[in-house]
Amino acid sequence: MEAEPVQFLWRRYEERLEPARQAAAKLVGARPRDLVFTTNATTGVNAVVRSLKLRRGDELLTTNQDYNACHNVLVEAAHRAGAKVVTAQVPFPLTGAEPAIEAILRAVTPRTRLAMIDHATSNSALVLPVARLVRELAKQGVDTLIDGAHAPGMVPIDLGRLAPAYYTANLHKWVCAPKGAAFLWVREDRQKDLQPAVISHGNNTHRPGYSAFQDRFDWAGTFDPSAWMCVGAAVDWMSRLLPGGWPALRKANHELAVKARRLLCTKLGVAAPCPEHLLGAMATLPLPEPFQGRPKSGKIDAEQLRLYDEFGIEVPFVRIGQSGRRYFRISAQLYNSLAEYEYLAKALLQVASWGT
Ligand SMILES: Cc1ncc(COP(=O)(O)O)c(C=O)c1O
Repeated sequence: MEAEPVQFLWRRYEERLEPARQAAAKLVGARPRDLVFTTNATTGVNAVVRSLKLRRGDELLTTNQDYNACHNVLVEAAHRAGAKVVTAQVPFPLTGAEPAIEAILRAVTPRTRLAMIDHATSNSALVLPVARLVRELAKQGVDTLIDGAHAPGMVPIDLGRLAPAYYTANLHKWVCAPKGAAFLWVREDRQKDLQPAVISHGNNTHRPGYSAFQDRFDWAGTFDPSAWMCVGAAVDWMSRLLPGGWPALRKANHELAVKARRLLCTKLGVAAPCPEHLLGAMATLPLPEPFQGRPKSGKIDAEQLRLYDEFGIEVPFVRIGQSGRRYFRISAQLYNSLAEYEYLAKALLQVASWGT
């Protein structure tokens, strides 16, 4: 790119981008023409929500398990239009998919314009029943924006069949593409009014063979598109790690997460906060009692810092719900082993005994 910027960014741009788009689309069961790259899921959510023509009194539905950055997008868009953010209270601990579905559908009103549903929630690591939710919400005339930040590579996705109005997700998490690789998929009937978070040439510059939707999103000003162009290589490389390809990889990671959670529950004496069928390749568990009730000490909890500094373990600590009950979240990728979660259990027990 630096040796011949015009070649790279202008003349040969599409030729390098297209194979990546094809690979991403294939991974998530989409037509390439309905998919554009974004730098991250936050950007995808911004494009969708800020393109809505909201009116005073409209409602944007989300859940208490959403991702703070994306929640903020709803708040800002609602604030500007005199609309309202309605937050469905999905219980956590959660006994099954049903209470989540009920909580979300109960919050729908005739004024609901959009529901933002996380495919895999960030803090609580729940895989939400998005297929049921999209269907039920559509029956009530509500469009769904799925925030699938963690989903590609972790759970199967078939966008042709799921057919929400909008789906955005990261490829820099479970697909292991470089940071800055994400996509936004938009159902054909919702593409016309959609503007990217950053408006550039595409609004009046048409390229033969591309949809106007792709023209608008494919160029967001000069930047390094290498991460996008690497997506095909990442998808292909990951698909060859196990003989069974992506399905085998997802299954192995899910099974390791389940085993790791069982092990940690036993060693730490804590209860699993959701059934195993709501897990992907991550799991959130309560921290043992000595951790509970300690006040937040800074941007990152003191014990989380110690876990990295003294044991070399990076695990996020989170507080969930009104009570601020403290949890930690594990992830399982092919390079992890059960022995590492055993080491984590030992480390957590040691940190608990030290106090803060
Ligand atoms: C559910 C969810 N949405 C959105 C994001 C934001 O992702 P990014 O920072 O890549 O935009 C995350 C990140 O972890 C997430 O978990």
